[in-house]
Amino acid sequence: MTTKVEKVDPVNPEENKIRDAAGILREGGVAAFPTETVYGLGANALLPEGAKRIYEAKGRPSDNPLIIHIADFTSLERIVREIPPQARALADAFWPGPLTMILPKSEAVPLETTGGLDTVAVRMPDHPVALALIRESGGYIAAPSANMSGRPSPTRAEHVLKDLDGRIPLILDGGPVGIGIESTIVDLTGDVPQILRPGFITEEMIAEAIGAVKDDPALTAADDSVRPKAPGMKYRHYAPKAELTLVSGNRQDVVDRINALAAENRGKGIRTGVLCTAETEPLYDAEVVKSIGSREDEEGIAQHLYGLLREFDESGVDRIYSECFSDLVIGKAVMNRLEKAAGHRIIEVSGGESRPANWQ
Ligand code: TXA
Ligand code: MG
Repeated sequence: MTTKVEKVDPVNPEENKIRDAAGILREGGVAAFPTETVYGLGANALLPEGAKRIYEAKGRPSDNPLIIHIADFTSLERIVREIPPQARALADAFWPGPLTMILPKSEAVPLETTGGLDTVAVRMPDHPVALALIRESGGYIAAPSANMSGRPSPTRAEHVLKDLDGRIPLILDGGPVGIGIESTIVDLTGDVPQILRPGFITEEMIAEAIGAVKDDPALTAADDSVRPKAPGMKYRHYAPKAELTLVSGNRQDVVDRINALAAENRGKGIRTGVLCTAETEPLYDAEVVKSIGSREDEEGIAQHLYGLLREFDESGVDRIYSECFSDLVIGKAVMNRLEKAAGHRIIEVSGGESRPANWQ
């Protein structure tokens, strides 16, 4: 199969391009498209073979459920058994946007789409291309991130092509995405709403809209021993080719420790990479030093994270050390992804103070 990359206007998508892509989905096939978070690999959510094609293309375990993407709130009625008041409040506050809700599924949703669960994940993406494609293809697109299973989520069409070239017929290329990390997932099927995956929409923002909300206990565990409620969160999502270690502490201690480790590695012929910020980039002495941007620019940090991890994979280093970002508003989401990529390998400097709130 050859994979066609079709450039599409991210603000006013060309109708004929959307129609062609929708045609593929209507017939049970798959196509990649941009959302505001990451690129998705879409298929018709209400056809059992849609989900099957996605799992095949990604090499993804079929017990890992998919998110259904809708383009208007009334579409929700067909795919869920009930719409609790919190779902309405969250939709009012954050849809279209980077928030996914877990609700009890209706008969219309095949078990293939939900990985056998009787609940379904739903979100309304905030991207003109995604919304046009959903509408044109019948209203319900199941889509995971459009990466090969085990790779970082794609934030550019080139990342999708790198992973899925020859495995899917079409990539709609709407340029780089705006947010760069996957949606926040909130489970509304229990007594108290629970965050299963942190994202751009923070716990504080959700609490403001609906009151009490708590974290899935697996999110705050120091290792992978607690089973997460979102099946996909149990996978060691992405492990860089080089061993990744996070270094947590105050600024000078982190820089000193990473430079000492790099020097020690060099003595043994081990090549070191450093993931840092624009402010600290000049302070490091290592084989490869990559800045994620200014620490002041939180949105930029989220946007560049996955692309930078992909760049490290190409750079031929053996070990990577990364600064921590716990102090940012979006820190929980960024650190969740980084801790998974590092297999929870963290060195605490500055007297072992765990996850210091400030970086100085
Ligand atoms: O931003 C996003 O959410 C992107 C874009 C493409 O929309 N999508 C995305 O999908 O990140 P994916 O498949 O990579 O991650 C979906 C996560 C997985 O961890 C999955 O286990 C969880 O959502 N999930 C899906 N349905 C669920 C359900 N019924 N109950 C609990 N977790 C669920
Ligand atoms: Mg994914």
